[in-house]
Amino acid sequence: MPIVHFSRRYHFSSSHRLHVDALTEEQNYATFGKCNTPRGHGHNYVLELTVRGPVHPETGMVADMVSLKQAVQERVLTRFDLQNLNCDPVFADLVSSTENLCRVAWKLLDDVVTSPAVLEQVRIEETSNNSFEYAGKEN
Ligand code: NI
Repeated sequence: MPIVHFSRRYHFSSSHRLHVDALTEEQNYATFGKCNTPRGHGHNYVLELTVRGPVHPETGMVADMVSLKQAVQERVLTRFDLQNLNCDPVFADLVSSTENLCRVAWKLLDDVVTSPAVLEQVRIEETSNNSFEYAGKEN
């Protein structure tokens, strides 16, 4: 069976503040710099999902794009678009860095692709210079 990787990009905009409650103001600023600004700041995030799987002999496709789009909309975009990430319960005890946002997106979307296709990678661009990738691995 030919294995093909399919990637799709989604866009959402959120604000956040990188901050650890257990650290002092000075320590937070030393760690996060201007990303620790008290009123927060925003990003136009680009979420890119990569799905890997065999090409379906009948449809010629790797994944059902309609159900994928709907699931990403419901599970991630509606939840985070035009929101302050720090106010979401998932970031109550987790720094809202894009590294962690990748992990959260993976967890929310891991089962979104139906077998035999699998979610291969979640990639989030925070700016045109910074991007992060996560593939569900712990080590
Ligand atoms: Ni930021």
